[in-house]
Amino acid sequence: MAHLFNRNVLLGVSGGIAAYKSAELVRELQERGAQVRVIMTRGAQEFITPLTLQALSGHPVHTELLDERAELGMGHIELARWADLLLIAPATADLVARLSAGRADDLLSTVALATAAPLMLAPAMNQQMWKDPATTANINTLVQRGVQIVGPAAGLQACGDVGPGRMEAPAIIADAAGSLFATGELAGKRIVITAGPTREALDPVRYISNNSSGKMGYALAQAAVDAGAITTIISGPVNLAAPKHTQVLSVHSAEEMLEQSLRLLPECDIFIACAAVADYRPVTIEDQKIKKGPEEVTLQLVRTPDIVATVAKSSPKPYTVGFAAETNDVLAYARDKMQRKGLDMIVANDVGDPSIGFNSDENAVTVLWPDGQQALERANKNTIARQIVHLIAQQA
Ligand code: C5P
Repeated sequence: MAHLFNRNVLLGVSGGIAAYKSAELVRELQERGAQVRVIMTRGAQEFITPLTLQALSGHPVHTELLDERAELGMGHIELARWADLLLIAPATADLVARLSAGRADDLLSTVALATAAPLMLAPAMNQQMWKDPATTANINTLVQRGVQIVGPAAGLQACGDVGPGRMEAPAIIADAAGSLFATGELAGKRIVITAGPTREALDPVRYISNNSSGKMGYALAQAAVDAGAITTIISGPVNLAAPKHTQVLSVHSAEEMLEQSLRLLPECDIFIACAAVADYRPVTIEDQKIKKGPEEVTLQLVRTPDIVATVAKSSPKPYTVGFAAETNDVLAYARDKMQRKGLDMIVANDVGDPSIGFNSDENAVTVLWPDGQQALERANKNTIARQIVHLIAQQA
């Protein structure tokens, strides 16, 4: 069964007799992990009531384009943005024609134009209407634009005809929807990722920190979401938007990052420590801004807690992955660090090359685990993240 974990499916229902099967389709999508919201055309409401689909989806059904109340809540642009997939089932001959013409004369066709999400249609109509050259031309136009078509199936139709035109079975449509997205190899797993730098305060306005951008940790979070994981980022201060379907907990210091990590441990299957945690913090944090004074001052620092080592010592312990940024003897130091910190996997980063790593969009790493290793060639951080997540799914 294909997975739809972390996916928002906007289900469009148009006015054909197959609309009664949309109720089952909502269930099939939910069983695969999807969040479902429904738009019905006026015609669809002649075949099945919005109340049925509201009860099943757990959300009010959207029916009108020009509805003041709806636009105050989730209006057509919000719906278009919310969707990871717009799935229209059944899609009638009329709707197929309107979509191919790019019309925006009701809520469903407007959202179809307004969304950047992929569009999938499950056509359902009389077999003669399906075979009509006009419908064939409209479908071809949509396919050329990248629209996915599922079905129709052949068989006995409600009108008594036999032939192609029946809406495909809901389970098959839901599987087709799931197959549009990346693997579900971490479906339902709970992943916690630390990302970005920490800030260790000296006084109310000053701190010790580093140049970590958080890009690698956020890319890992996106890859984990795509693999179906329930993903939380514990993030130091970064300038990055939270990837869709992740929860971001913002922290400043190593101490706060540790506190949140330990709080989440009971609900964590896999812990990835990608943050560039400050190794030292000032012994005291002054209440008031430190005044300029003598020519020389000495700052006394004390070690911060090692977050990933603390997590790896906990019981029960999540599958724990750390990072090692090294400039020489990268693999030997990384393997030693993995053992010392009690990690299950370590991602070794050669930071001798300033064009990759920390603030860059690219990275090149070697992933090590107790009885194996794999080098990942220089690539965009998103590509590296997907490969790391794949290795974690294989080893965890
Ligand atoms: O010891 P080092 O800082 O090189 O180890 C790097 C790894 O340990 C990274 O995975 C980093 O996120 C983690 N770490 C940590 N807490 C610290 C220092 C490092 O979790 N205080």
